[in-house]
Amino acid sequence: MDLAVKFFLPLLLLGLVAVTFSQDDGYGQCERTVMEWKSAALDVDVKEDKHKLQELLFFLHVPRTGGRSYFHCFLKKLYPNALECPHSYDKLRFDPRKPNCRLLVTHDDYSMMTKLPRKKTSVVTILRNPTDRVFSTYEFSIEVAARFLIYPNLTSAVRMASRIRKKTNSVSTLDIWPWKYLVPWMREDLFSRRDVRKFKEHNVTKSSDSYNVEDMAMPLHKYIKDPVAQDIIHNGATFQVAGLTNNSCHAESHEVRHCVHKYRSLGTHVLEVARKRLDDMLYVGLTEDHKESATMFGNVVGSQVISQLMEKSDKEPAVNSKQGQNLHILKSLPSSIHLNRTTENMNIEDDGGQADASV
Ligand SMILES: *[C@@H]1O[C@H](CO)[C@@H](O)[C@H](O)[C@H]1NC(C)=O
Ligand SMILES: *[C@@H]1O[C@H](CO)[C@@H](O)[C@H](O)[C@H]1NC(C)=O
Ligand SMILES: *[C@@H]1O[C@H](CO)[C@@H](O)[C@H](O)[C@H]1NC(C)=O
Ligand SMILES: *[C@@H]1O[C@H](CO)[C@@H](O)[C@H](O)[C@H]1NC(C)=O
Repeated sequence: MDLAVKFFLPLLLLGLVAVTFSQDDGYGQCERTVMEWKSAALDVDVKEDKHKLQELLFFLHVPRTGGRSYFHCFLKKLYPNALECPHSYDKLRFDPRKPNCRLLVTHDDYSMMTKLPRKKTSVVTILRNPTDRVFSTYEFSIEVAARFLIYPNLTSAVRMASRIRKKTNSVSTLDIWPWKYLVPWMREDLFSRRDVRKFKEHNVTKSSDSYNVEDMAMPLHKYIKDPVAQDIIHNGATFQVAGLTNNSCHAESHEVRHCVHKYRSLGTHVLEVARKRLDDMLYVGLTEDHKESATMFGNVVGSQVISQLMEKSDKEPAVNSKQGQNLHILKSLPSSIHLNRTTENMNIEDDGGQADASV
C-alpha cells in the first residue's frame, strides 16, 4: 500500500536516523553483519501479484495498533473456525488436524515468514504513529500489571497468577511477547511503590498529572528510558516488520539488532528492509486513519477472502451449506463497515485478561 508507506515512513525515520556514532573496532564487523542480513532480506522473489491474496494470510500484529479489533471484528468473522491456525501468540503451533489453515495471527515478527510457505503467504499489518504506540504500550503495561494489586504482596501475586494459568491451561497476556517482559516489570514496580506508600502512610503528595503519579506508578519519562523499553518498545514496529525484535526466531537477528543499537547509523538499512517488506504486503492499515483503513481492509482483504472461500466450497461441496450461508452474510461485510473513529473501537485491543487466550 503505497499510501500507507508514504504516510508512515517519515515517522518511522524519526526513530532511526543517525546522529553520531563512535568509530571503534566493532563498527566494521557490525557493518558487515548488517549488510549481509540486508542483502539476504532483500533478495527474495517478489510475488507475481502482491495484491492477490495467497492461501495463507499472516496478520503481523504490531502491539497497540488496534489489531485486535481487526482480528475479532473482521478476520474471525471471515474465516470459519476450522481454517484458523492454532493460537500462536505465545509460540508457533502447528496442529496436524489443521495442516491447511489459512489465517495466522501473532505478535511475532517477520522472521516467522521463514517458517511459513513464503510464496503461498500474504502478509497484512497495521501501523501507528510511534509516539501514540509508545503511550499506549506504557498504559497497557501498567493497566495489566495493576490487576495484580488485588493480591497482598508480589510473592502472592506471582504465585496466584501462575496457579491460575496452570489451572485454566489458557494462553495469558503474560505468555505473550512483549507483555511477558513489560507486565512483570511494571508489576514489580507497582508493588514496590505500594510498599513505600504504606510505609509513608499519610504523607503522600497528590498529583493531578496522570502521567506523573510517581507514588503509584513509574512515570513515562522513566519508563521509556529504561533498557527494557529500549530493547522492546523503541522502534518496535520497524523491528517487527524487519524481523529483528528480541523475540525473533533467528539467532542472526539478535546480532543485527545489537549492532543497530550500538551504531545508530546502521539503522537506515533496517529501515530500508522494513520499507520494502511493507511495500510487498497485501495490506497495511494505519491506526490513525481508522475508517479509511477498515474500509480498505474490507475492499482489499475481505472481498478476496470471501471469493477464495467460495471457490474452496465449490471445489469441496462437503464444506456444506452452512458455511455457504455464512459466506453469504459475510459478502455484505465490506460495504457495511461503518466505523466511527471517535468511538471506543480505537481502544479495544489486547484487553487480554489474565486468562484471555486471544490477546
Ligand atoms: C504475602 O502474602 C501472603 C498471603 O497473605 C502471606 O502469607 C505472606 O506471608 C506474604 N509475604 C510477604 C513476604 O509479606
Ligand atoms: C513527609 O514528607 C515531607 C516532604 O517529603 C518530609 O519532609 C517529612 O519528613 C515527611 N514526614 C514523615 C512523617 O514521613
Ligand atoms: C528481550 O528483552 C527483555 C527485556 O529487556 C529481556 O529480558 C530478554 O532477555 C530479551 N530477550 C532476548 C532474546 O534478548
Ligand atoms: C461518530 O460518533 C460521534 C460520537 O458518538 C457522533 O457525534 C458522530 O456523529 C459520529 N460520526 C459518524 C460519521 O457516525
